[in-house]
Amino acid sequence: MGLITVIGSLNMDLVVRTPKMPQAGETLAGTDFHLIPGGKGANQSVAAARAGATTRMVGCIGADAFGPVLLDSLTAAGVDVSGVTSLDGITTGTATIVVDDCGENRIIIVAGANGMVSPDFIQDQWPAIRQSDLILLQHEIPLQTVHTIIAQAHADGIQVILNPAPVYAMSRNILSQVDTLILNEVEASALTGLKVTDPNTARIVASTLVDLGVHTVIITLGSNGAILHNTRYELFQPAFKVEVVDTTAAGDTFAGGYAASILSGKQPPEALLYASAASALAVTRLGAQTSIPDRTEVEAFIAAQTIKINRSPMFNTNGGD
Ligand code: RIB
Repeated sequence: MGLITVIGSLNMDLVVRTPKMPQAGETLAGTDFHLIPGGKGANQSVAAARAGATTRMVGCIGADAFGPVLLDSLTAAGVDVSGVTSLDGITTGTATIVVDDCGENRIIIVAGANGMVSPDFIQDQWPAIRQSDLILLQHEIPLQTVHTIIAQAHADGIQVILNPAPVYAMSRNILSQVDTLILNEVEASALTGLKVTDPNTARIVASTLVDLGVHTVIITLGSNGAILHNTRYELFQPAFKVEVVDTTAAGDTFAGGYAASILSGKQPPEALLYASAASALAVTRLGAQTSIPDRTEVEAFIAAQTIKINRSPMFNTNGGD
């Protein structure tokens, strides 16, 4: 199996659970508080490693109490953290997350050391990064750095998967150098200006992005499933029915799981199935890295299902074969 390098954020998540979201100016009594390792980049590296991929993380932490906890969490998941640098004089990234009884969340991130992942920092690390077979990116490090990595990876013939979260505008030139874009319906709408509300509108928006030069577009739709579009496949994967505890890191679990599956030689239908099942399991548990399942668990979950993926190249919202 090849090497996945995840370049992105590492955050300590400060998680508060509450029966309902507070209104502006309202004080509520929460039920519990947790410190949980997170950050979209770090979560995706854990998801890829637990899916069985050889995974290396590149990013920055602060020289504070949170940094070593985040490194320990990645190491325990089997992620190589030799590309993570600890910086003096800056805090580790944090995310303050409020989760309500419906499993919905509200998140405020403070970039801290994640903001120091500059193009120069990447340039210094490029000799190691260029050994990768696949680079997995998100938008929680400076955007200019993400765009520099995409261009460099494209020039070096390294496959790039981008999860553009949080979403920012991207030029056609950058999009055309991305091999696979994995985004949710809100991000797809923001990126294209076209409303995504269901699998059919998602398919239209995905096809627009493919026309702009992205090879493969995956749009996740929460309880409405996910679609994948490229010149070979038009797939719809129905969502698995699960009891939602916390949706935090569901998208990260999907992205890391998809990347690992593709790198292991799986075709898009199987990779989409794995990613959907892994993210379904993740929402049944609290927290980010604490919720990400491993391959054995995901395969057992899939084996226990009656829903099958549509393996036909034709789009089919019934999800049947
Ligand atoms: O995608 C979930 C992640 O977003 C959390 O772990 C939090 O750190 C924020 O970055």
